[in-house]
Amino acid sequence: MTTLFGRRVLLRPLTVSDFEQWQEVRRRNVDWLTKWEPIRIAGQPDVVEDRDAFAVRCSARQRERQLGTGYGFGIFAEGDFAGEINLSSVQRGPFQSSYVGYWIDEKQAGNGYVPEALIVLVRYAFEELRLHRVQIAIIPRNAASRRVVEKLDLRSEGVAERYLEINGVWEDHVRYAITAEEWEARAEELLGAWVD
Ligand SMILES: CC(C)(COP(=O)(O)OP(=O)(O)OC[C@H]1O[C@@H](n2cnc3c(N)ncnc32)[C@H](O)[C@@H]1OP(=O)(O)O)[C@@H](O)C(=O)NCCC(=O)NCCS
Repeated sequence: MTTLFGRRVLLRPLTVSDFEQWQEVRRRNVDWLTKWEPIRIAGQPDVVEDRDAFAVRCSARQRERQLGTGYGFGIFAEGDFAGEINLSSVQRGPFQSSYVGYWIDEKQAGNGYVPEALIVLVRYAFEELRLHRVQIAIIPRNAASRRVVEKLDLRSEGVAERYLEINGVWEDHVRYAITAEEWEARAEELLGAWVD
């Protein structure tokens, strides 16, 4: 199992044995998270309330890792499950790109765990997966998430209108990106500030 280490956070794929902790955090954070996430598709089992559905989710993520199309990780902070961060839609060929999504338990917010996890994941994307581009899309009014990319000084590529359907609405997103060239130039600075 791939385990990635930051200064305070540990990233590893979730397994079915994480269900109880994951469920407790997800149940407690409904209001905190729903406004920033896609709506569950009608008819799909509720992964928060159904252990078997969570197991299927874990297997699907494992399959994505095997196929090289996605890399999902739980964020563990000081030993506790705290949130998730994922590389998704990995595209090879001339694009060599992936998108990052993340969330953290409201109780753990404000500790800089997500920017730290993001740098750990970006390092993995460039140095292990050998991708060329990592992208993050954020709804303009999501000030907390924009702070994450701003404090890492990731480059904004402008606003994509009606880009993703979030909580039932096609929302504009600010698109941020970092490429392998930028990582090479900034790795020492970013790892020194957040990881090593
Ligand atoms: C966005 C998010 C992942 C940031 O994670 P984090 O680990 O708290 O990141 P940071 O500690 O660097 O905090 C980032 C900013 O959040 C804000 N913040 C801090 N604590 C907060 C709290 N308890 N409640 C709300 N916002 C808070 C601050 O503006 C902070 O910036 P600052 O450090 O300059 O003060 C987290 O707020 C979250 O999970 N939000 C809900 C889901 C979401 O928006 N996901 C991203 C979708 S693109």
